[in-house]
Amino acid sequence: MSNNHPIGIFDSGVGGTSIWKETHRLLPKEHTIYLADSKFAPYGEKSKEDIIALSIKNTEYLLDQNCKLIIVACNTATTNAIKTLRKNYDIPFIGIEPAIKPAALNTKTKAIGILATKGTLSSDLFHKTTNLFANDVTLIEQEGDGIVSLIENGQINSVEMTALLKHYLQPMLDVDIDHLVLGCTHYPYLIPQLLEMLPKHIKIIDSGEAVAKQTKAILQKNELINTTTEKPSLKFYSNGNPNVLKMLLDRNYTVEFLNF
Ligand code: DGL
Repeated sequence: MSNNHPIGIFDSGVGGTSIWKETHRLLPKEHTIYLADSKFAPYGEKSKEDIIALSIKNTEYLLDQNCKLIIVACNTATTNAIKTLRKNYDIPFIGIEPAIKPAALNTKTKAIGILATKGTLSSDLFHKTTNLFANDVTLIEQEGDGIVSLIENGQINSVEMTALLKHYLQPMLDVDIDHLVLGCTHYPYLIPQLLEMLPKHIKIIDSGEAVAKQTKAILQKNELINTTTEKPSLKFYSNGNPNVLKMLLDRNYTVEFLNF
């Protein structure tokens, strides 16, 4: 594996671009290939077996493109499939999990909320993490049914989204949470709305920056940092509507439709 090979990133759809942005900010010289498996989104309502099969499909595609490291930019795929991926393939995988630990360590009201997909909240890895770190806090777990589909359709600021969020957040407000953990990479795109809806003292936590830092650390450890001076190639592929992916990327990057 050569250090000028690309970093591969996949998600069930467009949400992992929130991770891609953090990664590109921290590692601007790296070539990257982003894969949005939007045709099969949402993953959160699928079985563990299906999530593993889709994660393998995405990984094989990225390996065919010679990726040196893969970021599983999806909490649902990480919590259900990363163990299998690490077992099956011989390159480093970086995953993303809901940041329960910092929320549980820092809460003053002893109540935290987590918004994530059904697939993440029902996973063994999530249960392990909550048992380890959140035993002495009230943890309100909320499945974000419908949120990913709305984002995949480009309806981030829609009336439907506001109604869903209000409905999902109310039980958390009722127990006076002071931390809201965003356990899905699609959700950081909701932060502007959430800031308007939530009382000021509630801290919103997502793991994007931590994933980028971990990616850098693992590249360094494996001597895989790109040291060449060529302009990085930034590729984006989607098997769904490329326009939604384009809308979420800040600059005018080209998004190619891919039939996979
Ligand atoms: N971005 C994915 C995650 O982080 C969304 C899952 C889904 O497709 O339901 O969990």
